[in-house]
Amino acid sequence: MAALRVQWTINGVSRRYAGDGEQPLLWVLRDELGLTGTKYGCGIGACGACTVHVDGAAARACSVPMSALAGKRVLTAEGLGRGEQLHPVQQAWIEHNVPQCGYCQAGQMMSAAALLERVPRPTDAQIDDALRGNLCRCGTYERIRAAVHRAAE
Ligand code: FES
Repeated sequence: MAALRVQWTINGVSRRYAGDGEQPLLWVLRDELGLTGTKYGCGIGACGACTVHVDGAAARACSVPMSALAGKRVLTAEGLGRGEQLHPVQQAWIEHNVPQCGYCQAGQMMSAAALLERVPRPTDAQIDDALRGNLCRCGTYERIRAAVHRAAE
């Protein structure tokens, strides 16, 4: 069977992928591109640790096959800020000391950034709804909510 070939964009850089179309985006990011900010948690789309943006919307990289990415723009935690300038979400995460163990936080921030693109001033309920699928075993949810409000200011 011929390998899939797709042109896609990762963190603003155009790339070609040739390989198994069923390969999840997560492993291309981590193993082929060295973008290890995107974490592996459950592998079944249930924890949110692997959250990235695909064409501006939050998506679970463990559940997106490379065959779905032709012409798409993918953004990872590494591309969230602009050069040395942190994204408002990253800045707010620092100000509120959000992370505890930190493992889920890149995914949390990617979901938060996607929310703020859609809803610049979200309510508590909108934040909770948007981040419901991002699990944090340390229970940093209160600080996450506060940081999202800070980033929205
Ligand atoms: Fe993708 Fe858990 S690793 S949702």
